[in-house]
Amino acid sequence: MADEQKFPNQADISQILPGVKHTIAVASGKGGVGKSTVAVNLAVALVKEGFRVGLIDADIYGPSIPMMLGVNEKPKVMRVGDKSMLLPLVKYGLKLISIGFLVEEKDAIVWRGPMASSALKQFITDVNWGVLDYLIYDMPPGTGDIQLTLVQTIPLSGSVIVTTPQDISLSDARKGANMFTKVNVPVLGIIENMSYYTNPDGSKEYIFGKGGGEKLSAELGINFLGDISLNTNIRIAGDEGKPIVLKEPESEQAKQFMDIAHNLDEYMKKLGENASQKPKIDISL
Ligand SMILES: Nc1ncnc2c1ncn2[C@@H]1O[C@H](COP(=O)(O)OP(=O)(O)O)[C@@H](O)[C@H]1O
Ligand SMILES: [Mg+2]
Repeated sequence: MADEQKFPNQADISQILPGVKHTIAVASGKGGVGKSTVAVNLAVALVKEGFRVGLIDADIYGPSIPMMLGVNEKPKVMRVGDKSMLLPLVKYGLKLISIGFLVEEKDAIVWRGPMASSALKQFITDVNWGVLDYLIYDMPPGTGDIQLTLVQTIPLSGSVIVTTPQDISLSDARKGANMFTKVNVPVLGIIENMSYYTNPDGSKEYIFGKGGGEKLSAELGINFLGDISLNTNIRIAGDEGKPIVLKEPESEQAKQFMDIAHNLDEYMKKLGENASQKPKIDISL
């Protein structure tokens, strides 16, 4: 990492990605909590709200976004001046690059940190993103060296942490929040996924526990962006390559994602108004 340039904070975004307003990492301490599902639906929800959005699938352990959006092509290369640039794919109005487009899945999982961070850096410097309101990263789960290197490699406005209400997931989410805070990346919010299951009679079943995400938000002094229920149609929509916010826009689950996108954008606006003040995030390490 010694000779690698780091892009540690928001001030750098305007230099490195001049056309991009906000860059946001979707992260989780633990895998399998629905991070990619949230990243995809959040990105598409922002497109539906009228924003220009890009999505980077940076999960070297499981690049699942091509499947969730039903795309799997190699991005085209174009010349910009004397430089070769990758053209992001476009699906549902969303610009998209995945580590899965560039390497075979079986190769990606044996990558080491420096390889992952140099690939990720290329996604920023060698992709013709154009003008975007939001560039969203689906990060690899965990809080180890690889993740730490990655968050220091990319210019981030902030992160959102996805957790389920289960204790083990919450404790990993806490570690995730700490990791970002350590490298001065603001945690913009917590999203609770798989919050409850609605029984056929309409009653709610809190399979993984109740209210854990909100409690964690309160404990850490971080904004709570909203919750998403556990619902088979979310999984099916992801498997079919058409996110639930598009496939069933009137469903309760689609509305939950739309609310989260709205809350995040409102929060970004508020931060913008107070741009001279740093967001106050009180996390005791
Ligand atoms: N709220 C939900 N309801 C039902 N299934 C979900 C929900 N969130 C995620 N899933 C499913 O759980 C699995 C893991 O989700 P994924 O987004 O791939 O997690 P991660 O990226 O954190 O590993 C996927 O099959 C996905 O479709
Ligand atoms: Mg994933």
